[in-house]
Amino acid sequence: MQTGHRKIIIAIDGYSACGKSTLARALAKRLGYVHIDSGAMYRAVTLYVMRHHIDINDADEMAWALSKISIHLSFEHDQQVTWLNHENVEQAIREPSINEFVSNVSTLSAVRKEMVAQQRRMGLAKGIVMDGRDIGTVVFPEADLKLFIIADIDVRTERRWMELQAKGVNIALDEVKANLLLRDTIDSTREDSPLKQSVDATVIDTSYLTPKEQLQIALDLSRSIIGKI
Ligand code: CDP
Repeated sequence: MQTGHRKIIIAIDGYSACGKSTLARALAKRLGYVHIDSGAMYRAVTLYVMRHHIDINDADEMAWALSKISIHLSFEHDQQVTWLNHENVEQAIREPSINEFVSNVSTLSAVRKEMVAQQRRMGLAKGIVMDGRDIGTVVFPEADLKLFIIADIDVRTERRWMELQAKGVNIALDEVKANLLLRDTIDSTREDSPLKQSVDATVIDTSYLTPKEQLQIALDLSRSIIGKI
């Protein structure tokens, strides 16, 4: 674990199921930092919207819904737990039905404004690794280290399918692939804060890297920056 006071902000962005959260969690653990999976927050908003049958295209209805939503993140054994209005929704937000709709909800500026404000407050103390789609471009454009994670679509499909199988969710490989591709398209073509590589980000292709190898690359980059400040 890294000690001392020179804490930095690390932003990790990339496409769905590239291994961002796995890398971010492991990196934060090794550095003694906090890991925030920002996607969980968009997933929690989506869960609320679906449960309450909110019409996301109705601005007033959406504003009302946002005023009723309180999202809180806690940490148990280094794992983030997501709370929606004091209910633990960590499992519910990973369901395929959420995957189907989360990118549509995430296009809405009203939603993004709320989430980004909350995410920025989390970074005030530094010592944070946050992963998402717009972390290096919008949430922390001043981040000390920005990583942009990519991986082959078939590798990503297989990884996400295995994750879902392990959770007992039965779904065809083709369906998983179609959802990843659709979300990539919506996320990178939306008007507000589209997913794109920040010019100052380092790209890591995780297709043929083990989690240990990708962690080592990120650790080396982090330590070289921490050593300089
Ligand atoms: O785990 P996975 O890569 O499948 O997705 P996630 O990180 O949980 O994010 C779910 C969805 O939330 C993404 O497809 C985006 O539509 C949205 N998202 C976003 O718009 N901005 C972020 N900073 C994080 C997620």
